[in-house]
Amino acid sequence: MRHVPVLLSKVIESLNLAPGKNIIDCTLGDAGHSEEILKHTGPNGKLIGIDADAESLFRAKKYLYDYSTRVVFERNNFEHLQKILSEKKFGPVHGILMDFGWSSPQFEERGRGFSFMKRNESLDMRYDTHLRCAHMTHDPPKDIEGNPLYGSCTAAELVNNLSADDLREIFKKYGEENLSRELGEAIVKKREITIFETVGDLVDLVLAVYRKKLKTDKEIPWIGGLHPATKVFQALRIVVNDELGVIERVLPQAIDILESGGRLAVITFHSLEDRIVKHYFKKNSSNITIITKKPIVCSKEEYDQNPSSRSAKLRVIEKK
Ligand SMILES: C[S@@+](CC[C@H](N)C(=O)[O-])C[C@H]1O[C@@H](n2cnc3c(N)ncnc32)[C@H](O)[C@@H]1O
Repeated sequence: MRHVPVLLSKVIESLNLAPGKNIIDCTLGDAGHSEEILKHTGPNGKLIGIDADAESLFRAKKYLYDYSTRVVFERNNFEHLQKILSEKKFGPVHGILMDFGWSSPQFEERGRGFSFMKRNESLDMRYDTHLRCAHMTHDPPKDIEGNPLYGSCTAAELVNNLSADDLREIFKKYGEENLSRELGEAIVKKREITIFETVGDLVDLVLAVYRKKLKTDKEIPWIGGLHPATKVFQALRIVVNDELGVIERVLPQAIDILESGGRLAVITFHSLEDRIVKHYFKKNSSNITIITKKPIVCSKEEYDQNPSSRSAKLRVIEKK
């Protein structure tokens, strides 16, 4: 399975591509966007493709084989954008793309525990299995004795070590989960008997909490297309990868390195991400022009073909 790039034609249009332009893809994934970008920037436009996940780079190299002399591959966190560019001596930069979140093969095939449907996978959720939560901006999560959990933070480690209050805060803040308190307390109670290792361990706990709240022993229905564990999984994934912190840190670097007239296109998938991007663009309107007054979303045709494009929002700016 290859990831289907979302809003592809809109991204290509909004980056103002032309032969000879140099582009950075901060979230290379399966290189669907990059492949199309390279078609428009040939014969000599260059591209840096960054991804935190070593397996994504391995796959992208295969997909971009025909363009390999024009591509620099970099396994890294995009939050180190400026450092990467100066190390690779890449420039001038005419366009930058960010397409946050996970790729379909990461979700479906890589055993990282991103999906609540994959019950037997381990509760990991890291994009980068080399790095271990070393770059979190908010206070590091602490174990029950108050020791910071820096350097060891898969989703399972968070669930097995955080206090009920910290779990509640994470579920509320990053998942907007209504049963945050009940879930935090139930997790800590369950830990007295057994630790959480797999996706199924956590999904069962979430379902039990919902059943207790709804006073039923029947199957819990999906609400508004969401499985009851969706929000808990989203919240843990955000914390494990510091997903909001990296966006806050990369945006100023991206605007700084763009040439005048260069474009930055950002695709977000939930309101917490989109809010950061929208506010950052507004706050910096003295040195950028906002191209998308309203975010671009997918058409009905795209949604029918690729339902994961449902929540995608594309915002674009141009450097003055
Ligand atoms: C939605 S996918 C990108 C899909 C890609 N545009 C395509 O056409 O196939 C997002 C990718 O960003 C990567 N990623 C997520 N957070 C990252 C970070 N902080 N630094 C670098 N890569 C990251 C993930 O590993 C994943 O491969």
